[in-house]
Amino acid sequence: MRKNIVAGNWKMNKTLQEGIALATELKDALVGTTPNCDVVIGTPFIHLATVVETVKKSPIKVAAQNCADKESGAYTGEVSASMIKSTGVNYVILGHSERRAYYGETFEILRNKVLLALKNELTPIFCIGELKEEREANKQNEVVKAQLEGSVFNLSATDFGKIVIAYEPVWAIGTGLTATSEQAQEIHAFIRSLIADKYGKEVADSTSILYGGSCNAGNAAELFSKPDVDGGLIGGASLKAVDFKAIISAF
Ligand code: PGA
Repeated sequence: MRKNIVAGNWKMNKTLQEGIALATELKDALVGTTPNCDVVIGTPFIHLATVVETVKKSPIKVAAQNCADKESGAYTGEVSASMIKSTGVNYVILGHSERRAYYGETFEILRNKVLLALKNELTPIFCIGELKEEREANKQNEVVKAQLEGSVFNLSATDFGKIVIAYEPVWAIGTGLTATSEQAQEIHAFIRSLIADKYGKEVADSTSILYGGSCNAGNAAELFSKPDVDGGLIGGASLKAVDFKAIISAF
């Protein structure tokens, strides 16, 4: 069956020293515990290699928050999937709504990023989710369907089986407005049905679908109690070890 995952997304926060301190604190907080989920922290690029070393011999795995849509070459300022892989990282967050909104990431760009991540044996945590006005117009289902069709439904069943989906309603990200557990369950079940239609029930049942958007220590247990919510992608609450540990403990 599918994995439960609690993944942190630090976004553009923490200097290198602060990031090492946070990773160390989290590692120490998990000593002697056996989390009932995979634990991932998504750090800025410059932290990756050092944080991978910091969390060695702990259950914590590390994610990048983006990768280039090109393999290598004259792309000043970009970081490729193979460079990320060479730091010892296992995951890469792709398609976050902030990347789509502020950095013009289209379905096609994301399709290339997903392919390059998989080629380099990184597990994409692929983010989808609707805007506030789309939810108000009851268009959330068609939005997430288009996002899946646009960037990941081109994959073979074997490759799709390697990715993680994160449903993150944009209106809930960093706003304190969490989707209710019923709203999350409803759309997660819909997403799983789309995967089943495309790839069959077995692939759908083994795909982890995380919820993201103001998930915190207070609401994680309720959200994670839903059958189709397989964990969380956590922004703000991943920046404090005690809060993040409490979310991990919600499983
Ligand atoms: P948030 O962010 O937990 O701060 O709402 C979630 C995310 O953007 O991944």
